[in-house]
Amino acid sequence: MSDDITGTAAWHDLERHHDQVSALTLRDLFAADPDRGTALTTTAGELYIDYSKHRVTPETLSLLVELARTANVEQRRDEMFAGAHVNTSEDRAVLHTALRLPADATLTVDGRDVVPDVHEVLAKMGAFTDAVRSGAWRGATGQPIATVVNIGIGGSDLGPDMVYRALRHYCDGPACRYVSNVDPADLTATLTGLDPATTLFVVASKTFSTLETLTNATAARRWLVEALGADAVPKHFVAVSTNAERVAEFGIDTANMFGFWDWVGGRYSVDSAIGLSVMAACGRQRFAEFLAGMHELDEHFRTTPLAENAPVLLALIGLWYSDFFGADSRAVLPYSNDLARFPAYLQQLTMESNGKSVRIDGSAVTTRTGEVFWGEPGTNGQHAFYQLLHQGNRLVPCDFIGFAEPTDDLPTMDGTGSMHDILMSNLFAQTAVLAFGKDAEEVAADGTPTELVPHKVMPGNRPTTTILAPKLTPRTVGQLIALYEHQVFTEGAIWGINSFDQWGVELGKKQALELEPLLTDTDPPTDDLDSSTAELIRRYRAERGR
Ligand code: F6P
Repeated sequence: MSDDITGTAAWHDLERHHDQVSALTLRDLFAADPDRGTALTTTAGELYIDYSKHRVTPETLSLLVELARTANVEQRRDEMFAGAHVNTSEDRAVLHTALRLPADATLTVDGRDVVPDVHEVLAKMGAFTDAVRSGAWRGATGQPIATVVNIGIGGSDLGPDMVYRALRHYCDGPACRYVSNVDPADLTATLTGLDPATTLFVVASKTFSTLETLTNATAARRWLVEALGADAVPKHFVAVSTNAERVAEFGIDTANMFGFWDWVGGRYSVDSAIGLSVMAACGRQRFAEFLAGMHELDEHFRTTPLAENAPVLLALIGLWYSDFFGADSRAVLPYSNDLARFPAYLQQLTMESNGKSVRIDGSAVTTRTGEVFWGEPGTNGQHAFYQLLHQGNRLVPCDFIGFAEPTDDLPTMDGTGSMHDILMSNLFAQTAVLAFGKDAEEVAADGTPTELVPHKVMPGNRPTTTILAPKLTPRTVGQLIALYEHQVFTEGAIWGINSFDQWGVELGKKQALELEPLLTDTDPPTDDLDSSTAELIRRYRAERGR
């Protein structure tokens, strides 16, 4: 099951092939095949995906697909969709895909059809958010809700925050704000200007044991109670969790709790009740379209042959750079301001999933895992870090994401054009310049002084994927998320790791709990501490007058 993929013939074939083709340039590849720009493309849902500007030949792609076959990606995918316990270290099924199954589907997991459960929660979320949106749900003073504050962290924050922003154009319900950090500045800034009488808190935590979330939720409840009294809490606090007992202990009526299941990983949970704030903002119909978009991509991933399967191809190409070219990171560059939080969302999705050093059986991996994802929306990044992308000496493959139809448009300076056209012409220009650059001869031909020529040479040969969708809609946002979810799965399956646990975050949490009392102590820090941490705490205490 977790055989070392780097010991297989498929891997060795790729190593040999890399030696043969790594010097080929995108200029060479495009010159050799005039149809390359249409041939190396695929569609998934409404997403048109151009992977022609990658340093791959048709042979590279078929060797990569063979690697996926060798790693039994199809079998592992089918096991995941069927509800097998593919999260072995926690002995759990991994079934975010069940959250977007249509109501007439069936999926039996551990002896129970989960589809009716999923749709029961969706119906409860729908009834509740309808009431909030229509004003039928009133706060303790009889006023309707104007603002929903989601308190959560990690997957209980990044997903809904990202999707809420992405669907700004479609949101016609209460405004949403998101609090995650245990830094008191976050809650303080979020509550500034809010009226407790018209504010609804959604405490979102899968486990309902996360320190940051419970601390912020307690402080938020204090803020509310100070203004409206303890009796106001049931009208202003609801919970999203898998843990009804802890929700009740916290003092939230479990009638106002929206549940989900242990087979939904935190970073895969925006399509569960964790999306409650999004549904409140944009309504149940648009939330249903968002889920339908995800389901379309699930079906694409589940049924499309590997060689045309978009998430599989993108995973294989990512792995090609990471493991064969030694690339350190992948930039995700949405040419949509509304997708500004998409790179941050992907950081949790990809890095918490695949940042692993041991395979499923506990043996050490022998190749790089876990691509580092980062990015900012275009065109802002162009005026910040694209210099390194264009002329730096690191290889940074990039995913460009753009939309043909704007959700909003404004005229250009002379009043005749479209600002959206300016935005998109930048996307197309960047991917072309990254791929084809400008060599010394071409730079000199512009009349550039000789001494400046080396500074102006654009090396090119920098690989990009372009994902072009008709429009940013609930459906296409769902498709984008599922596209990356399945890339993460495919890479994890090839590396032989468990993409669905996150043991690496636990020790830091535990040590923070142990250290916290030392920050307020007046005794010298104990000898158990290393000298660096002891001195930092001593200085911290001195600054705080302790
Ligand atoms: O600490 C990591 C993590 O467990 C994430 O995986 C998760 O999304 C986040 O914390 C929040 O967890 P919860 O929803 O249980 O509060």
